Amino acid sequence: MALFQSSTRVIPNAPGVPRHIAIIMDGNGRWAKKRFLPRVAGHQRGVEALRETVKACRELGVEYLTVFAFSSENWRRPADEVSFLMQLFLKMLEREVAKLHENNICLKIIGDRSHFDDQLNRRIAEAEQLTANNTGLTLTIAANYGGRWDIMQAVQAMLRAHPELSAGFSETELEPYFSMHYAPEPDLFIRTGGEQRISNFLLWQMAYTELYFTDTLWPAFGRKALQAAIQSYQARERRFGRTSEQVRGEQVPEGKVDA
Ligand code: IPE
Ligand code: IPE
Ligand code: MG
Repeated sequence: MALFQSSTRVIPNAPGVPRHIAIIMDGNGRWAKKRFLPRVAGHQRGVEALRETVKACRELGVEYLTVFAFSSENWRRPADEVSFLMQLFLKMLEREVAKLHENNICLKIIGDRSHFDDQLNRRIAEAEQLTANNTGLTLTIAANYGGRWDIMQAVQAMLRAHPELSAGFSETELEPYFSMHYAPEPDLFIRTGGEQRISNFLLWQMAYTELYFTDTLWPAFGRKALQAAIQSYQARERRFGRTSEQVRGEQVPEGKVDA
């Protein structure tokens, strides 16, 4: 298992290919509406966009790809759309897992599974088990995920394991309990569909992630759009609180500010 690294403490080298990309795959409904199709047709096409993105990430050498498939707030949608999305998720697991495994991809699902039916939970467990030892890209699907839920469950799990920490604990003590403890924090966040918000995605983990928003609707996203996002990322200077001169390695006296 990869060691948990906090980008806010472990400063990565100058941006090359991001190790970890997190994506909010938004705009499926609008993509379909533009074509006079039902919203669910957009979700269906969204699976293809995901397939292409996974392939491109593998080829580019991205180590972790994390995608938001269903938020804890998406239960508020019409019942038939929610049930379509659950069915689509199940079908995707059934159809794609063998191919993911062939491609050495490690699949992980994060989110609150207590609302999923038994069949879906079984498939999730099987898929994770089958691909657990794969050493290529780690693909994480966030389903019934919420950033606040993640922080709350982490605190509760930590306290169950270590009741003595109720008197106080550090970030390092809490971090192993987050859903994404196995991955470094995202370097690059992409949201398609034009909205500029986080929508309760990886709140804790994105403290220092570079944010990229594009109007491209998710079903139209693919290799080219991914490359554009990575190019934007590579043109940025990740300072993590330091000055530009420090980042560029110029000679400046180090030290902390005395208040
Ligand atoms: C994102 O697309 C997919 C999910 C939230 C499941 P949307 O369904 O939100 O598409 P828009 O935003 O309505 O276009
Ligand atoms: C965010 O998309 C969640 C997913 C893509 C799964 P939404 O379309 O649900 O986000 P909001 O509600 O418009 O912020
Ligand atoms: Mg949306």
